Amino acid sequence: MKGLILSGGKGTRLLPLTYRRAKQLIPVANEPVLCRVIRAIRDAGITEVGIVVGDTEPEIREAVNGGERWGVNITYIRQSAPAGLAHAVKEALPFLGDDRFVMFLGDNVIQGGISSLIRQFADSDWNSQIVLKRVPNPQQFGVAELTAEGSIRRLVEKPKQPPSDLALVGIYMFDRHVRQAVESIRPSARGELEITDAIQWLVDHGFRVHPYIHDGWWIDTGKMADMLTANAYVLDELAPSNEGRVDENSTIGRRVTLQKGAEIISSQVRGPSIIGENTRIINSYIGPYTSIYNGVVIENSEIEHSIVLENSHIENVGARIQDSLIGRNAHVAQTVRKPKSICLNLGDYSQIDLV
Ligand code: G1P
Repeated sequence: MKGLILSGGKGTRLLPLTYRRAKQLIPVANEPVLCRVIRAIRDAGITEVGIVVGDTEPEIREAVNGGERWGVNITYIRQSAPAGLAHAVKEALPFLGDDRFVMFLGDNVIQGGISSLIRQFADSDWNSQIVLKRVPNPQQFGVAELTAEGSIRRLVEKPKQPPSDLALVGIYMFDRHVRQAVESIRPSARGELEITDAIQWLVDHGFRVHPYIHDGWWIDTGKMADMLTANAYVLDELAPSNEGRVDENSTIGRRVTLQKGAEIISSQVRGPSIIGENTRIINSYIGPYTSIYNGVVIENSEIEHSIVLENSHIENVGARIQDSLIGRNAHVAQTVRKPKSICLNLGDYSQIDLV
């Protein structure tokens, strides 16, 4: 069995963070979402993994390389245009050959332990398996309608009037018959070759598509709030470890992970949270559900339920920072000067919430 990860797209809903970085490389609990996806596929025993890339190919290659870190062999497949998920499968056909494969959207974060599901498909005679999840907002996803017996009646992409609350999670499994499906369907109203239509084609032509309803959590990390939710879920699952240093004036909670070279000085850190490599927390408070990535300095400040990316610096901020996503090399500081004013130097599409 092979793995196929889709990692194109512009990430417009995550601007400004995605100006200079692929959305799949934004970390949750200090691990880029794409790396987590590679791990999930590897844990199912798959070693041949294709990554479909678009304009952000160089940074994805830089982050993942040949896959040595996970013991997998990565093949990069450049999609000629961002023309839909089924289009990506079409362009990956030379890599896929006649093998069964699992396709994973590179920005989906799902509760751990799905490898048995993938192995189950590998050993089955189903032509496809899809993963469904009950959601409160099915209009935003592909939606499945099942028969009374639990088989698939129909699938619709982003329906205004959803026939059920079963959303299609971004994990799909196929055998070689998907080739005919992606070659037969036509572009949708949004001008894309939809994977939902390709699966419907399989159903209509008598192929066996098995629906699996996932009970655990699942987040499609499209927007900032989704990133924070995914971060919280993953931190909740993380087994804590300590490769850092805590001085005698600091206290850290039970579910705090300190990565190599992290230093906690005269501070309080509550879990679940993670402090990245060579990050320094000085005279500060880090609250639950916070991920501080590598090379960050936080000084005389308080932050919780937030994500801070590499090499940023937060100092002397009087109010507690909450529910925030701070990009790389950002500088947030408070100074005492007159007149008392706010001085902003923000990139396009930034969002500031003042109270
Ligand atoms: C895609 C699929 C949709 C699926 C979703 C899951 O939507 O088209 O059926 O429910 O991924 O993340 P997109 O995120 O491309 O709008």
